Amino acid sequence: MDLEVVPFESRFTEPAAALLAGGHRQAQGAGALDLADVEVARRLVDAVLDAGPAVAAVRDGRLVGYLAAALTGPPGDQRARIRIHQHAAAPTGRRQTYRALYAALSGHLVAAGRFEHTVLVAAGHRDVTDCLTELGFGIDQIKGIRPPQPPPATARAARVRPARPEDLAELTLESQKFHAQPPMLRPALIDLRAIHDGFRQALTEDRQLLLVAEEHGHLTGMTQAGPDARFRATATIGIAVVTASARSRGTGTALLAGMTDWAAAHGFETCGTEWTSANPVGDAFWRGHGFTPVRYTLTRLIDARVTWAHADLSYRGFLPDP
Ligand SMILES: CC(C)(COP(=O)(O)OP(=O)(O)OC[C@H]1O[C@@H](n2cnc3c(N)ncnc32)[C@H](O)[C@@H]1OP(=O)(O)O)[C@@H](O)C(=O)NCCC(=O)NCCS
Repeated sequence: MDLEVVPFESRFTEPAAALLAGGHRQAQGAGALDLADVEVARRLVDAVLDAGPAVAAVRDGRLVGYLAAALTGPPGDQRARIRIHQHAAAPTGRRQTYRALYAALSGHLVAAGRFEHTVLVAAGHRDVTDCLTELGFGIDQIKGIRPPQPPPATARAARVRPARPEDLAELTLESQKFHAQPPMLRPALIDLRAIHDGFRQALTEDRQLLLVAEEHGHLTGMTQAGPDARFRATATIGIAVVTASARSRGTGTALLAGMTDWAAAHGFETCGTEWTSANPVGDAFWRGHGFTPVRYTLTRLIDARVTWAHADLSYRGFLPDP
């Protein structure tokens, strides 16, 4: 029988959890969120229905895949996020299933004003990444992990110490401004107040780390880390930045060493970080220091003019007068 795509209903929860757990049995590395556990998978799939539009693929009366999106964010937010537990498909016919599911879901998303679609995919699921690439997505962010052993020391290490509240203003903007440059070209839409409030809060918490590096009394770098929201027993770096004039002299490595020491002392089994795939220095730095990809964020940006330039548009006004 043909593949049929229908709205996701609660009766699909059980088979969807089995598909999700089955798909992740081999795909994830140490420290990762345990999606291979059917109980964990069921709990996450349960929440799928409340998050936003969700569709299911059915063949011969059996669920063979599902795709759901979270429509969160402030009013007017154009992003739709498909988290790692919001999609799965049986291995047989996986490509066709994803194509049919996205054909249905993408229309719902655009109708809801969501033009930036992101999908989180386990790095082990190369076939899913390939399938999404063929649907117009590209790899934007890479999540990587490594053990908490310190990196090999570089020739000239900077002095690294815990941050103080007065340190935090100076380097906050550097990372965002860096990411606005080519080839990353991410708009530096910075909510400075929220960042500062977050840092001040972090300074009071035992399981949060804020380190700065200094040379000759000037701040040259900063890193922030804390427990990962998704990956078990993992300390994840939120921000790592070294001022442009101090780069490539071992400061980033010294900050990473401070972070890995802290993570090991606090019982974390894994260190994590996430970087923009196109970032030339970040990609070389993290991979060079042993972070191996465990998850990709794929993004597709849709031209919003499709909401009026479509099959119903009358081209009569565009014709030259007879
Ligand atoms: C990424 C960043 C924090 C690194 O800091 P840094 O002080 O330049 O890092 P280091 O001097 O310790 O190391 C940089 C070098 O490490 C290299 N490297 C790779 N493997 C290494 C290893 N095992 N040991 C030492 N260095 C290694 C990097 O490729 C780079 O080489 P280069 O100097 O020859 O170009 C810094 O470049 C930065 O702030 N960049 C802009 C913001 C940014 O990208 N932040 C991370 C985003 S997620």
